Amino acid sequence: MLTVRAPATSANLGSGFDVFGIALESPADVVRVERADETTISVSGAGSQYIPEDPEKNTVGAVAEALDAPAHIRIDKGVRPSSGLGSSAASAAAAAVALNELYDRGLSREELVPIAAEGEALVSGAAHADNVAPSLLGGFTIVTGDGITQVDADVSLVACLPEITISTRDARGVVPESAAMADIVETVGHAATLAVGMARGDPDLVGRGMGDGIVTPERAALIDGYDRVRAAALEAGATGVTVSGAGPTLLAVCRPSSRRAVASAMVGAFEATGIDSRAYQTRVGSGATIYRD
Ligand code: HSE
Repeated sequence: MLTVRAPATSANLGSGFDVFGIALESPADVVRVERADETTISVSGAGSQYIPEDPEKNTVGAVAEALDAPAHIRIDKGVRPSSGLGSSAASAAAAAVALNELYDRGLSREELVPIAAEGEALVSGAAHADNVAPSLLGGFTIVTGDGITQVDADVSLVACLPEITISTRDARGVVPESAAMADIVETVGHAATLAVGMARGDPDLVGRGMGDGIVTPERAALIDGYDRVRAAALEAGATGVTVSGAGPTLLAVCRPSSRRAVASAMVGAFEATGIDSRAYQTRVGSGATIYRD
């Protein structure tokens, strides 16, 4: 028997749509696996009532199938589904690491990325690796068609999850099919700034580099209170705020000293919009961790 904790993640970071991702120190999913003749799945924890336990319909079942590693799998969800915090990716990453170890498959973390991404495809309709890559590798990841670049990063964050649900499928439906060259040029500049900021652990550069006038405005329109919460976070000391993944979580970057004030300002601003929310005071963290019994 084997237990793996895999972190929630935040994809896109504004300027890096479908490319950038970070592992969060918390929250996380915990997956426990035991060898079996046939795969069974049980789910508990945050939002577990919305997650199918049928292996053919669960991200983790797809991972077990891909690794030819049948097991009794128990998933304890720390990350609610449809949160914008890579919920299905955390389960898929944890299962990939656990089953690889349990069956001694010998695959590297990088080699597990496409396998965990297959599980993602079951949920979102497309095999994005921008959540599974940071959940497996930790730190800040850049996923492109020809590979993954990873750097460890030390940046403080607040992830504020409102009590509303946006499905990744719906959020992908509002992504524009084309963009003006001026907006692309601006976004590339921001993305480069953000990447340098991550490498230096500089919250000012990371915050400035989140700017994106192409996808984020469309996604923000799906989140009640977005402008108000963003303004409140910036007022409280955040250096940048954007939609986390497909939303509805809003991600703020800040200095460690202003994290508490930013969290409280974001929850207060959602409350003023009539929406309950929960703020995770966190930072960029490490990838999936194995615990042996
Ligand atoms: N990059 C993806 C998106 C992340 O924003 O749609 C969510 O799967």
